[in-house]
Amino acid sequence: MGYKIVQTFRGRVLFNAPLQDVFKLNLWLRTAERVVLVLKRFEAETFDELFDGISQIPWGDYINKKGAFPIVKVRSNKSNLFSLSDIQAISKKAIVSSLSKKYGTIIFEEKYPIYPIHIYIKKNVVTVGIDTTGKEGLHKRGYRKYVSTAPLRETIAAGIIISSNWDFNKSLIDPFCGSGTIPIEASMLAMNIAPGIGRRFACNNWPFFYKYQWNFELEKAKEFIKNIDLSIIGSDISSEMIKIAKLNAKSLNLHGKIRFEIKDFFEYIQIPTESWIVTNLPYGQRLKIRKNKIIRHFKEIFENNKDISLHFLSDSEKVPKIFGRKPKRIIIIYNSGLKVYLYQFW
Ligand SMILES: C[S@@+](CC[C@H](N)C(=O)[O-])C[C@H]1O[C@@H](n2cnc3c(N)ncnc32)[C@H](O)[C@@H]1O
Repeated sequence: MGYKIVQTFRGRVLFNAPLQDVFKLNLWLRTAERVVLVLKRFEAETFDELFDGISQIPWGDYINKKGAFPIVKVRSNKSNLFSLSDIQAISKKAIVSSLSKKYGTIIFEEKYPIYPIHIYIKKNVVTVGIDTTGKEGLHKRGYRKYVSTAPLRETIAAGIIISSNWDFNKSLIDPFCGSGTIPIEASMLAMNIAPGIGRRFACNNWPFFYKYQWNFELEKAKEFIKNIDLSIIGSDISSEMIKIAKLNAKSLNLHGKIRFEIKDFFEYIQIPTESWIVTNLPYGQRLKIRKNKIIRHFKEIFENNKDISLHFLSDSEKVPKIFGRKPKRIIIIYNSGLKVYLYQFW
């Protein structure tokens, strides 16, 4: 989105953005899980330094008198301060101390709205922020009313599609589509539908952000939608899953953009030329024998359809061996804590 990245961490990116862009970020970030507004970064090796650093933040500029400010996330890594419960308790006291100066009381009802606080300490550097997204991370787009037994996170699905470099003019096929996450995310990406268009965030309730800013971003996002023709196919062996996938697509008005059908993966032999296959395979030890059969069938499809681009998520480490060739790229991904591999062949 064109912002200047200051530092990257595992699973986090620190960047500079104007305060008013908080709405835009929540609305448009397709692969991130949440947007945290960083209020201060400082060094602290003792609890006194932690208290001083946090109490000096003008919390009253952000949190109104009735606001709740739970400390929802505390992390400490390679730092002198490591007791998470003590960090949490001291931080809370420091926020109360700052707020009491503004509001002249030490008793706060903590009702509404909610300002979820994050405290990260790494190598004695404290980062203090407010989570602008809220309880439900950005992967909750709002369209997935019904899920499969092993649904893929929407943010991961979007990331896989982006990393596949899918050409929107070509077909995209998900032969194990389940509740339809990959086909739906693919159409949202191609049609430039803002991923957060169907939901609201914690910051929507904060008085220091103006409602008109949100309405402005939302209206702009609606104008940006491109009504283009797409060739996206989602298929699954389960009729129940196809029903669910259709309902999910319907809640985003994607009618006519995706063709969902009941189909056994092993029926795929000839694929339209220059297609992309983007999918995540069924998981689990129980499926081990069948899993190898699926991978062997992918190998066959890949060899019979030379111009296809193949991207699949699997927990199997044996894919290169079964395929008899090295994938162009392997990316390790954690899907709800499970280590999986994105194998990419083209
Ligand atoms: C890991 S889930 C896919 C989840 C999906 N990405 C989502 O977000 O909901 C795997 C899917 O493969 C389907 N499946 C299993 N064997 C199949 C086969 N032989 N042909 C087609 N689909 C199959 C299951 O019904 C299940 O929905």
